[in-house]
Amino acid sequence: MIKKCLFPVAGYGTRFLPATKAMPKEILPILDKPLVQYGVEEAHEAGLTDIGFVTGRGKRAIEDHFDVNYELEDKIAGTGKERALLGIRTLLEDCTFSYTRQIAMRGLGDAILTGQTIIGDEPFGVVLADDLCIGGDEAGVLSQMVSLYNQFRCSIVAVEEVPVDQTSNYGIVAGETISDTLMRVTDMVEKPNPEDAPSNLAIIGRYILTPDIFDLIRATPPGKNDEVQITDALLTQANQGCVMAYKFKGRRFDCGSVDGFVEATNYYYQKFLNCSS
Ligand code: G1P
Repeated sequence: MIKKCLFPVAGYGTRFLPATKAMPKEILPILDKPLVQYGVEEAHEAGLTDIGFVTGRGKRAIEDHFDVNYELEDKIAGTGKERALLGIRTLLEDCTFSYTRQIAMRGLGDAILTGQTIIGDEPFGVVLADDLCIGGDEAGVLSQMVSLYNQFRCSIVAVEEVPVDQTSNYGIVAGETISDTLMRVTDMVEKPNPEDAPSNLAIIGRYILTPDIFDLIRATPPGKNDEVQITDALLTQANQGCVMAYKFKGRRFDCGSVDGFVEATNYYYQKFLNCSS
């Protein structure tokens, strides 16, 4: 059973300056809910209730968000405003929250390795909160991946097709087709130019990783942008054993970009209008 989920949240969020100068990008709201809460709700839905954050300087608001604010709660007790806190209260009741700090920004691989102290020797999920994922009519994306993990018992990355001119924004995978939605990974490149990309299948910010990944990351030299890339460690894992790429059911918004952020906002606003009409 997978119980743990890691949220690397140390990144600076430079694409959202000046908004992220003093505020973590993960606290930016889609309607009235911070991005990171959507991610934790997705993990909770998938049964991953031990939540670990790899955090950094200037990210204290995330810790405060996943805690009780007694003064505020006292003020709104018995009013209609309490309803807005029901979602976060459920998370606080059902989940535990642990924090460790990444001292230097050395890439996503290094961030995940920093989380080893929280994860230990178990398979675990990874959520990059600026990718907001919805399962549509299906279960959430992490839930879908946990079901697959229970079948295959190996690391799994969620992928989607992207326009060829955007491959340099993502880890790109290629592999042997197992079914319409599943591939066994044979190649994986971090942010290749279109001419070097093995396909247009991009990794999005959802992973299930087996704990042997930690030693593989430790043995992985800095790659693209001189950072330790999880993509490179996963390619070693794929070559030595097995990594699956899963075309998830649902939709993903890249809320680390202004376009994706506005699209997600419009999507949830439409949903809100439909519910209130
Ligand atoms: C990271 C990964 C990349 C992946 C992406 C998904 O990149 O390194 O392989 O495709 O997340 O969001 P980042 O967006 O942090 O630069």
